[in-house]
Amino acid sequence: MSEVALELASNEGKAVAKPLPADSPLLIQELTVAYGEKPAVFSVDASIQPQSMTAIVGPNGAGKSTLLKAVLGIVPRLSGKVLVFGEPIENVMQRVAYVPQRASVDWDFPTRVIDVVLMGLYRELGLLRLVRRAHRERALACLDRVGMADFADRQIGQLSGGQQQRVFLARALAQNADLYLLDEPFAGVDAATERAIIDVLKALRGEKRTVVCVHHDLATVSDYFSNVLLINIRKIAEGPVATTFTAENLQKTYGGRLATAHIDQLKLPVA
Ligand SMILES: Nc1ncnc2c1ncn2[C@@H]1O[C@H](COP(=O)(O)OP(=O)(O)O)[C@@H](O)[C@H]1O
Ligand SMILES: [Mg+2]
Repeated sequence: MSEVALELASNEGKAVAKPLPADSPLLIQELTVAYGEKPAVFSVDASIQPQSMTAIVGPNGAGKSTLLKAVLGIVPRLSGKVLVFGEPIENVMQRVAYVPQRASVDWDFPTRVIDVVLMGLYRELGLLRLVRRAHRERALACLDRVGMADFADRQIGQLSGGQQQRVFLARALAQNADLYLLDEPFAGVDAATERAIIDVLKALRGEKRTVVCVHHDLATVSDYFSNVLLINIRKIAEGPVATTFTAENLQKTYGGRLATAHIDQLKLPVA
């Protein structure tokens, strides 16, 4: 970094370098979210690095989905601040694409695949929702990128889980965003779909975009991601996979729920 934008913050007497908000595609400060009395996310700080691929990892109920939804404003924040490219997310929604957890989508809704992808363009289509030839072609190109061009006229509810997941990724691609937020994109998909999705995500990163995925498969974190954010209601650790995805941090994140033998199998770097 040539001109390092540094903000010196006093943290227990130590000076720490923090990136200025505008540097980070996603900056989360002291974010707390609660559905009732109990916080689902408590005072989480995170600074997603530009052009990184970050996995959000933690046990079931750790608040991973809630964190993404609170970033997007789908669930209200109790306190804390979220900045996307240095701005409140409402100002830059067009630059953010979201792929929700598949289980949370109503698949009985009668919609064709191509229309699902065109939804990614709704901001461009304008109030009249006028779909022009160029829009349709772009939607088809995005379907092609995920290997689903032949399914454009099928009903979304008739597709397999993996195919549906590909279509939702195509919708996110159509949006041509700079920050991609995906909630467990690999859950319940077959190996071929997993490969197809990871190839697209890696290509996005190559196009200088930033990708953040809630991810549950610990065995693939090191292969797929550059950075990791470990959470269990609170943030446990954040940083490059090589230095942060350690047995010690995993033990802190999962507690007794993750057997030591399982951690050993991951052949992690020793901190
Ligand atoms: N809509 C909701 N209403 C009430 N509680 C919820 C709701 N969504 C999630 N929760 C609770 O919040 C906690 C975090 O959930 P979630 O963010 O889905 O976790 P994760 O994605 O890490 O599995 C869980 O205890 C869950 O039961
Ligand atoms: Mg979840």
